Amino acid sequence: RKLQNLSSLKMVRAWIHDGSDKSDFELHQTDPPQFVDLENLKKRTGIIYYKVDVDDLGHEKVLADIIKTHGYDYQDDVTCEKGMKDEQAIHDKFYKEHIHPDEEIRLITDGSGYFDVRDDKDQWIRIECVKGDMLILPGGIFHRFCLDEKKYIKANRYFTGVPVWTPYYRSD
Ligand code: LAC
Ligand code: NI
Repeated sequence: RKLQNLSSLKMVRAWIHDGSDKSDFELHQTDPPQFVDLENLKKRTGIIYYKVDVDDLGHEKVLADIIKTHGYDYQDDVTCEKGMKDEQAIHDKFYKEHIHPDEEIRLITDGSGYFDVRDDKDQWIRIECVKGDMLILPGGIFHRFCLDEKKYIKANRYFTGVPVWTPYYRSD
């Protein structure tokens, strides 16, 4: 509750995370969250963030501009939710720390979830993604993804050229 109230003012919320599986409620019972603003997120990770009006994608100028500027010519969408086929296997795959040689580009069109990314000091930062958030993770940064307690997210994926989603796991 408290955590939510604190920063409904911000477009995207990111905070230092200890990498554990504890809920954020548990984590912040004793220590208040240490938020990372967008400017610092970019400085520490190279992540670029945009806010997109996903309710009016047909007329979205910001998105059209991003696609053009970055040169994305591939797009599809993915949904992750409670009860989906291979739910556990998909969770395990996304939540295992990994990198890709290419950018990872996600526009959340519905629902919400967490991207955890490592900063330049190998510190976890948790990014809460909600509808309308577009994140561009640079190639080669360690990250992972999980659903939040609502267990539902829908996202557009973009790519330049033929998409390759191969994860390289840190543990390997
Ligand atoms: C992926 C995200 C979930 O690799 O990191 O698709
Ligand atoms: Ni990934």
